[in-house]
Amino acid sequence: FSPAPRSTPAGPGPGLAAMAACYQRFDPAAYLQYNYTPPRADFDRKDSIVPWKLACLHRAFTEGDMSGELLVDIGSGPTLYQVLSGCEVFNEVVLTDFLEANRKELRRWLQGDETCSLDWTPYLQHVCKLEGASAWTEKAAKLRQAITDILPIDVHRPQPLDPSVLPPAGADCLVSCFCLESVSPDLAAFTRALGHIGKLLRPGGHLLLIGALGESFYFGGPGVKIPVVPLGEAEVCTSLKETGYTLIRLEVYTLPQDMRVGVDDVTGVFFAKAKKD
Ligand SMILES: C[S@@+](CC[C@H](N)C(=O)[O-])C[C@H]1O[C@@H](n2cnc3c(N)ncnc32)[C@H](O)[C@@H]1O
Repeated sequence: FSPAPRSTPAGPGPGLAAMAACYQRFDPAAYLQYNYTPPRADFDRKDSIVPWKLACLHRAFTEGDMSGELLVDIGSGPTLYQVLSGCEVFNEVVLTDFLEANRKELRRWLQGDETCSLDWTPYLQHVCKLEGASAWTEKAAKLRQAITDILPIDVHRPQPLDPSVLPPAGADCLVSCFCLESVSPDLAAFTRALGHIGKLLRPGGHLLLIGALGESFYFGGPGVKIPVVPLGEAEVCTSLKETGYTLIRLEVYTLPQDMRVGVDDVTGVFFAKAKKD
């Protein structure tokens, strides 16, 4: 992976360098514990945040307007929930993250390693229930077969991925969850990053973007406070428009009080389905 220059001609600005430094202390196991266990991942509750996200993704992938071969997930972190529905539509799935620690966590699951930091079985079971189809073990096998690569990425570079790793036309679909706003020092950097990842998508391809609303920080581990660009719905819509996407749908979830567990100050979550012009 040979890094292309970052978008600021003078090199990474102090904002970007500080963000990158923050992430060196990111702890995948703690992050999974904070965000991907109950109450945030309570499959018996319709108002829990993870089932809401899985329902949005399920709906987006089963509407019949998305097709192709290759789905790329941008800033996967140590999580897999975001590609559980997509692997039924796209034969090839590429996961990406800035940190080797997160890529290593994903590789552990891929290789069936028992020491994974989170058991994804309830997630697989829940999505199978939404689909009313295959057994969860079949979905796990399908996903393991579909994931062809786990690559390094930097969304602040005009070419976030090594250009040789994707077909010249680009991916057919991009998914990105809680990445751009939590790695950008300000709204301008968020919008630039949205433009950078758009170059990885073919014209007419879809972007499914999930992110935090009104969030100014989150904990990426004990004492690892990471700044976030606080976004509103209007900013998300404007940034998408400015970077060459047509918005198909924006859905918003407001966090119930008991989902505010002290690991961040998020007030809501958005789900955007958009198409590259
Ligand atoms: C809040 S986590 C989101 C993880 C996962 N997608 C999820 O839904 O929970 C943000 C992720 O962005 C990654 N990241 C940090 N800097 C990045 C950069 N410059 N480019 C791409 N990803 C980056 C981090 O390693 C981390 O995995």
